[in-house]
Amino acid sequence: MAEAKPETKLREEFDRWAADGRGEGMESDHLPITLPMLARMDLQADENVLDAGCGSGWLSRLISGRVTQGRVVGMDISEEMIRHARRASVDAANVMFIIGGLDEIPWESHFFTRVASVESAYYWPDPARGLAECFRVLREGGSAWILINYYRDNPYCHQWGETLAVPTHLLSGSEWEALFTAAGFSDVSHTNIPDPTPTPAAYTGRWFRDAAELAAFRAMGALLLTGKKAGAGLE
Ligand SMILES: C[S@@+](CC[C@H](N)C(=O)[O-])C[C@H]1O[C@@H](n2cnc3c(N)ncnc32)[C@H](O)[C@@H]1O
Repeated sequence: MAEAKPETKLREEFDRWAADGRGEGMESDHLPITLPMLARMDLQADENVLDAGCGSGWLSRLISGRVTQGRVVGMDISEEMIRHARRASVDAANVMFIIGGLDEIPWESHFFTRVASVESAYYWPDPARGLAECFRVLREGGSAWILINYYRDNPYCHQWGETLAVPTHLLSGSEWEALFTAAGFSDVSHTNIPDPTPTPAAYTGRWFRDAAELAAFRAMGALLLTGKKAGAGLE
């Protein structure tokens, strides 16, 4: 029997996560690292933002309250995640959710002023292509903001690769930067965003060996990557 396409495996896996309520559960885990990213983004009211790999849509809704004269599009490869996102967003007038993959973003070129993505990019089957697609849908002067917890420079997350049911890319900040540059971005940079969440005395989950490892992981924090699409258009 032919091996399932990577996109099919991703869709099936994240459909399961959504059905188990894990889409909503990620908000509290990812918010402490996302708020510093949003502060740096300094969104203006008239911006159009793509939330790439939006999951249950909590970040799209958060951003929609800041871009009150603009639009937010949340996109995810998982139909079930999008179903949850739509159900939770009926009151947000300037948000819409679409099913789609980073290999071919189902949106016109030069539309968004920002692409934001939280804890998704290392799952993209072809990160180079995904970044090229982010670049395509951005307007000149726009920028991409990609935040991930799984990257080579943070040794405390490396074991996730064996735990996750789908293939992942464990790249360093410099390797991600090179992919941004190859996709056409300029002013490319990466930085760490420590997670200030207090660590419990004991840890019984499956992602870390013990509480000390979790604390070390959070102290090093997430990797924030940014790049700009050069050109006038926004200022
Ligand atoms: C760990 S979840 C994070 C979801 C959300 N950003 C959050 O912080 O709660 C990763 C999400 O990325 C989506 N995803 C992974 N690869 C994708 C791709 N190639 N195209 C679109 N979505 C993708 C998954 O379906 C999943 O919903």
